[in-house]
Amino acid sequence: MAQCCQQINYYPRIKRVEKGEAVLSSIPQSRLYLDRFLPVVLTSPYIVREMLQLAQVGREDVVYDLGSGDGRILIAAVKEFGAKKAIGYETNEDFYQASLSEIKHQDLQEKITVIKGDLFKADISEASVIALYLSPEAIKLVTPKLEKEANYGTRIVSRGFEINKWQPIKVKNLTYSTGNPSRPIYLYTIPESLK
Ligand SMILES: C[S@@+](CC[C@H](N)C(=O)[O-])C[C@H]1O[C@@H](n2cnc3c(N)ncnc32)[C@H](O)[C@@H]1O
Repeated sequence: MAQCCQQINYYPRIKRVEKGEAVLSSIPQSRLYLDRFLPVVLTSPYIVREMLQLAQVGREDVVYDLGSGDGRILIAAVKEFGAKKAIGYETNEDFYQASLSEIKHQDLQEKITVIKGDLFKADISEASVIALYLSPEAIKLVTPKLEKEANYGTRIVSRGFEINKWQPIKVKNLTYSTGNPSRPIYLYTIPESLK
């Protein structure tokens, strides 16, 4: 297992890391490919932290993860970065259940909500930070929603893929402890001109 994951003891379902990506042990590999444009790999704890750091998540933030997997970004936002609230949308039953059970296990139900629902229909009006780990195609589809529904100043942190229409305010290049490069993380904010 990569070094980045050993120090994390609250992601018990991570069994191994392949090409830097954490793989859930409890869900059969064959079910990890849900549809054509949403890769079903989860973000390694190291990159979760880098994303939340880049977005400067703090006590005042309400952090959303659109396609929240097993809830790891939500959990880290609240537990490690002190976010006041975190909300995830997840359609996959296995991931949804895994996130509920982990949130309960960590007694974080008061601060974290996971909705079993479509990210394209998410109510994002409360978000101050939105995390994305979606394919370029899915990002293209969700961009108009972000432009229309996210508040001015909301930070959007996208792992791996750019929001092509927008100019990032920061780009962070990352290297795994193995020395292999990871795709960058992009940070954006919703400009006043869109509101
Ligand atoms: C690449 S994974 C990222 C998971 C998590 N955000 C992370 O970084 O570890 C994308 C997630 O989106 C979920 N997903 C796919 N289509 C969705 C949809 N329409 N609405 C909500 N979640 C969706 C998948 O089940 C998967 O858990």
